[in-house]
Amino acid sequence: MRHLLSTKGLTRDEAVMILDVAEDMADVAGREVKKLPALRGKTVVNLFFEDSTRTRISFEAAAKRLSADVINFSAKGSSVSKGESLKDTAQTLAAMGADAVVVRHQASGAPSVLAQSGWIDAGIVNAGDGTHEHPTQALLDAFTIRRRLHGASARGRDLDGVTVTIVGDILHSRVARSNVWLLTTLGARVHLVAPATLVPLGVGDWPVSVGYDLDDAIAGRPDVVMMLRIQAERMNAAFFPNAREYARQWGLGDERLALLPAASLVMHPGPMNRGLEISAQAADSARSTVLEQVANGVSIRMAVLYLLLSGASEGLG
Ligand code: NCD
Repeated sequence: MRHLLSTKGLTRDEAVMILDVAEDMADVAGREVKKLPALRGKTVVNLFFEDSTRTRISFEAAAKRLSADVINFSAKGSSVSKGESLKDTAQTLAAMGADAVVVRHQASGAPSVLAQSGWIDAGIVNAGDGTHEHPTQALLDAFTIRRRLHGASARGRDLDGVTVTIVGDILHSRVARSNVWLLTTLGARVHLVAPATLVPLGVGDWPVSVGYDLDDAIAGRPDVVMMLRIQAERMNAAFFPNAREYARQWGLGDERLALLPAASLVMHPGPMNRGLEISAQAADSARSTVLEQVANGVSIRMAVLYLLLSGASEGLG
């Protein structure tokens, strides 16, 4: 694997392999000494042009647990805010000897541009580009589902027959897109629920079913309900009447939570708008995997950095 730009291009076997390596990494996280020497002498740069809390610190923790050196580069307060281009930034990082660049950018496609540009000869990991993709988030979500469903016997398995309902701001969500490709590749059946204004054009070509009524979806007893954040920062128009109306129609509130089967998982990539797309009770319930998703994110990112930088899987992706 040279780069990780999207989940769309991953085969089932590649995806299962990444999840299995992440299981090995999770074993390390359970030890008293959480560190492996695998990436000693390698340099990982976190290049973040957009705000992030958990994704950035997750990649940082992952790289450090593999003994890589980590440089955090955030566009705020750097020469990027003085107008330095992506090209100049990439060439600067190349001159510093970066082996991998983890990039988050507001423009869809920016990580692919970096990977194809020849400006820098490093492994590129997409940590979220515009509304396009967020592959490590989908991988950690798939990992979380597989672990909850299969526990200690998760290794080697896919998500055949698992039903996943993704709810909310699909239009602006790179998390939804990466999950649609990955979960369906792994054999899951994905159903999307959103107000019509937040369903992307072209969704008819996606391997999913689409509905507009969350109560109907819950009556279908999905194995997993994944709530998405309302991405107000990407909205330049009124996509729904008001927050109260949104919560009433499309939020996972206490009453809907009570109707969901006890074994169904409640997921959210964070950051959560409590009281809008998810109630506090739903977010904090035993069915919620929100904090497991964060913990599993470190294992997934360790697996991805390891596969990219250790030369363990040349020829993939
Ligand atoms: C997501 C993102 O940035 O795309 N968050 C994350 O990575 N944990 C989802 C979001 O911002 O809503």
